[in-house]
Amino acid sequence: MKDIVGIVLAAGEGTRMKSDIPKVLHKICGKPMLKYMLDLLGRLQIDKNIVIVGHQSDKVKTIFKNKTVKTVTQPRLLGSGDAVWQARKSLFNFKGNVLIVYGDTPLVTYKSLSNLIQAHRANQAACTILTAQTKNPTGFGRIIRSEDNRIVRIIEEQDADPIEKAIGEINVGVYCFKASELFPALEEIKPNNAKKEYYLTDAIKVLTSRKAKVESVSAEDEHEAVGVNSRLELSRANEIINKRHIEELMQNGITIVSPATTFISTEAEIGRDTVIEPHTIIEGEVRIGASCHIGPFARIRSGSILQDRASIGNFVEIVRSKIGAGSKVKHHSYIGDAILGKGVNIGAGTITANYDGKNKNRTVIEDGAFVGVGSILIAPVKIGKGAVTGAGSVVTKNKNVPAGKTVVGIPARVLKKKSRGRKVIGHKS
Ligand code: UD1
Ligand code: CA
Repeated sequence: MKDIVGIVLAAGEGTRMKSDIPKVLHKICGKPMLKYMLDLLGRLQIDKNIVIVGHQSDKVKTIFKNKTVKTVTQPRLLGSGDAVWQARKSLFNFKGNVLIVYGDTPLVTYKSLSNLIQAHRANQAACTILTAQTKNPTGFGRIIRSEDNRIVRIIEEQDADPIEKAIGEINVGVYCFKASELFPALEEIKPNNAKKEYYLTDAIKVLTSRKAKVESVSAEDEHEAVGVNSRLELSRANEIINKRHIEELMQNGITIVSPATTFISTEAEIGRDTVIEPHTIIEGEVRIGASCHIGPFARIRSGSILQDRASIGNFVEIVRSKIGAGSKVKHHSYIGDAILGKGVNIGAGTITANYDGKNKNRTVIEDGAFVGVGSILIAPVKIGKGAVTGAGSVVTKNKNVPAGKTVVGIPARVLKKKSRGRKVIGHKS
């Protein structure tokens, strides 16, 4: 979209979070809050996006690594109106529309943004606002309408009288403005309100007093308006986004036995007919194939790949590892920085000792290997194709187990067959 520029406000301090981390970097379902809006703007194919940064801007900028966004710094946090004002130089001579969103409203949907843009264009409005009806409008700007139902202005919570406070239609915090109307209106706003801030919302009354056309679009569901200003709202947003994501996964053919106790990162990909048992946590970027079985009580962490029909059981943690097709890790195990081939069986209580105090090292377990219960595999190490480790063995660093061999003991040694077929350990036979 060439005729629209996106502006994301992310300069605020987020005082109510009581945090040393900038508010917009707090994670929701494993993803920094601000990224939800950036991803939506990306999906809308808006070519130019400006993020207004201010409080701890260096930290906030770290999440734009791979994104083509421009950042503009708001020197003093004088309010949302002042934040947008900072973008005027970057939009000098721009004649199109400006989509303004806040970095702390991660529940806004793609559908609502595209409805808003479409209506804004169709109506040729000076401004179109996304609004929502809610039973609990506390904390939001309320939409004030005239008798003939036209938007007159937005009144902020702190400045509202009891009658205005009773209004259930609220400002979600998403707006589409004609650039040519926006900046002249911002020039007029004053910080004569309870917070002594330049409110972006005051641009609306400037426009309506000039008889400019201000329209609105309703958000699909009232949850979209949830702004994250406190830890309580953060946990609510987490719950809602997780629930939405789980429902989407179910629609795609994944069984999730207990949505309320299951947590799945929005960056996880899961194949059909996979079954996820209760109390399972899937974090960050994870790829799970078809017909896998996970949980109950499993934790799959970022950087993991589970191929088709892999089976991960209770109290198993997998991180930065690949589990080959049909492989099983069923009970009480830690698999970190490991590559498992196909048809591998990992016995209960197996640990990959991947960290030596300095480096994380790799464990490779090849196709069809059988790792006995309670094995400790000290990385870097390789268990060859079809090899076996005995119960309780400790396979030490670089003592790779050759394909087809069996090792046992501490440290694990290769079992050699005696002439009469009895097995013994190591070289003593
Ligand atoms: C704002 C709206 C309110 C709306 C609600 C929806 C205003 C004046 N009010 O209230 O009508 O119902 O969002 O969630 O806009 N920011 C800056 N620089 C500043 C101040 C704020 O960049 O100087 C950014 C913040 O980082 C945040 C956004 O603007 O992303 C909104 O600021 P916030 O203080 O959270 O406003 P609310 O009180 O939630
Ligand atoms: Ca807010």
